[in-house]
Amino acid sequence: KVSELSLASLELGPYSHFMQKEIHEQPKAVSDTAEVFMLGGFEPENFGSKARAVFNDCHSIKILACGTSYYAALTAKYWLEAIARIPTDVEIASEYRYRSVIADPKQLVITISQSGETLDTMEALKYAQSLGHRHSLAICNVMESALPRESELVLYTRAGAEVGVASTKAFTTQLVALFGLAVTLGKLRGHVDAAQTQAYTEELRQLAGSIQHALNLEPQIAAWAQQFAHKANALFLGRGIHYPIALEGALKLKEITYIHAEAYPAGELKHGPLALVDENMPVVVIAPKDGLLDKVKANMQEVAARGGELFVFTDLDSDFNASEGVHVIRTPRHMGILSPIVHTIPVQLLSYHTALVRGTDVDKPRNLAKSVTVE
Ligand code: G6P
Repeated sequence: KVSELSLASLELGPYSHFMQKEIHEQPKAVSDTAEVFMLGGFEPENFGSKARAVFNDCHSIKILACGTSYYAALTAKYWLEAIARIPTDVEIASEYRYRSVIADPKQLVITISQSGETLDTMEALKYAQSLGHRHSLAICNVMESALPRESELVLYTRAGAEVGVASTKAFTTQLVALFGLAVTLGKLRGHVDAAQTQAYTEELRQLAGSIQHALNLEPQIAAWAQQFAHKANALFLGRGIHYPIALEGALKLKEITYIHAEAYPAGELKHGPLALVDENMPVVVIAPKDGLLDKVKANMQEVAARGGELFVFTDLDSDFNASEGVHVIRTPRHMGILSPIVHTIPVQLLSYHTALVRGTDVDKPRNLAKSVTVE
């Protein structure tokens, strides 16, 4: 009889942990999910028979989720507003369900959940329905789980089974699905024409390759982890669409290394967190070359001026140079609107390798569960 342990080692293949395996499965998970979009699977009918009417009828979106799925929602807000021009609200499910809410029947309620079983997200959806929200869409990774069963429309991510408690490939596939949804809604609403759809499709096609390039940075990131492993705290900074990636980076570090980590939008530094910065506080910055890069650079100078040590994830298109107290790792090219997906990989790897140095239980962090079905 094959013991559970040896079965697990078989499934792990060349990897040491499920988290590492799942991080490395992202080029495939992301292309499998993007392929659905490229083959026309994001046409409204794919979400359910009523989808076209629902999408035409809705004038705003509310997204409810927990944990890493909540950060996917925060990222998607930028795409849904910029591409589809739909006002989008994002709420933590466990907060929403106890708030006195003004319901809007024309608002589409989207839930995002890897497991499809998170109790707070489920209860938040039921609460929204009880208040008169008519339309709901579940974005889930597990087929036929509770949330899709309870929702009017469904969109499945194609991450495959995720075993590690800390979510990795589920997150990046959620982002692909949400990007595809934004393009679909943008087309339906007349904000995205055929040429633009073509351009977005091309970006999706290149995504797996860019993720692979980011994975190839693993040795450099592992070297940074040696320095992180002995820290008590870390600060993550990002701006705009990369702020949710800073949040996700801080969450990953907390979950599996138990290092206290916080994320801030870099423009908020001067309103508090700057007081924490000294030579013992590593500051991780997600700083690809987007429209906010110059602002981020100014924020980084504020850190450097206080003796803070900067660990910067950027891309080749930016003109960052490493210097005393400033460490730089570059992804090979700027990924435009999909850059947050690519920049997720380095922060996942940083947490993973820091956990290895600290010797924590990567796949089963203390006190946490993969799916939280209690309050
Ligand atoms: C737990 C997991 C997290 C996950 C969160 C939401 O806390 O440890 O990794 O992000 O639940 O789970 P869901 O299945 O709803 O995405």
